[in-house]
Amino acid sequence: MKRIAILTGGGDAPGLNAVIRAAVKIAINEYGCEVIGVRHGYDGFIEPDGLMVLDIASVRGILQRGGTILGAANRGNPFARKTIRDGEEIVEDVSDQCVAAIEKLKLDAVIVVGGDGTLKIGRELYAKGVPIVGVPKTIDNDVAGTEVTFGFDTALNIAMEALDRLHTTAESHHRVMILELMGRDAGFIALHAGVAGGADIILIPEIPFRYEKICEKVQERISSGSKFSMVAVSEGAQPEGGQQVFARGGDEVFVARLGGIGQAVGKFVESACGAETRVTVLGHIQRGGTPTAFDRWLATRYGGGAVRLAAEGRFGRMVALQDAKVIDVGLDEVLAQPKRVDVEGDAIRTARGLGISFGD
Ligand code: F6P
Repeated sequence: MKRIAILTGGGDAPGLNAVIRAAVKIAINEYGCEVIGVRHGYDGFIEPDGLMVLDIASVRGILQRGGTILGAANRGNPFARKTIRDGEEIVEDVSDQCVAAIEKLKLDAVIVVGGDGTLKIGRELYAKGVPIVGVPKTIDNDVAGTEVTFGFDTALNIAMEALDRLHTTAESHHRVMILELMGRDAGFIALHAGVAGGADIILIPEIPFRYEKICEKVQERISSGSKFSMVAVSEGAQPEGGQQVFARGGDEVFVARLGGIGQAVGKFVESACGAETRVTVLGHIQRGGTPTAFDRWLATRYGGGAVRLAAEGRFGRMVALQDAKVIDVGLDEVLAQPKRVDVEGDAIRTARGLGISFGD
């Protein structure tokens, strides 16, 4: 193995720099291999100044830094790339250009660090002959084949702290405090942070809720002497027979952006349950800043695992955590279906046993 490349795609997540650092150090220290950093996701292969050499000095001091030194790109899909031609916006397939650039660089492997979108593109490029190795990243924890993605632990700790802080106001003012959390179509952040942060009601996409059930729980707490309630709402939660709430629609380049369900629930609680209510949307605070020890540890192990996979020539695969060990799984298996909260699993059963309402 003489030369490999690494890129980070999709939204940023705490731990990206830890993966880059580990991959660069291990590739150089153990394999004497050159590492090329690809800027702004797959775009770096086709854009001028899209590549940079990553040596040991270039990854010094980045372990604890959030974001990614390579930059990320939500729109960076070479199979559907938005460009302006003759003053008009067009979407074109530039994947062959991307493959040609990779071939010209004589890369022995391309490590792609990303969520399902980035990994799907990786699988398509692998089908075109590119030696792809995947690393699962996302605060949403919705990538199958692995027990956990890096970034999730940091996000859930931030969400838990937000719940702790909102708790004091809820208690002092006898209010219902609603916290809208990220996670797209998976409720992992809201479920884990909600349980860890002592939420009374947790709304997740996997369990459609009924508005009147939220009221029931709020009223039950009031009549039992607890005059406040804490609600953790996943941005993808939706009422039974209803729809998810979007802040912005999507197109062939951008995915639609969820957001607004917290306000909808807040409006209902205030008008129908007779309880003073406030809504907080935590947003990108969940993705920013320094990674937790767990995420640095996991991201570092994933970086090392990815380089070893590349050295063994095991392409079209992704590193994953199973039974506390870093193993690897085929991208086809990973992408066959997204990971969701197991609604029959022990976590939900325990939460219900604690008296937490899922609004169902
Ligand atoms: O996938 C990570 C995530 O933060 C989701 O939880 C959220 O829905 C989305 O990205 C937000 O995307 P953007 O940064 O493009 O607003």
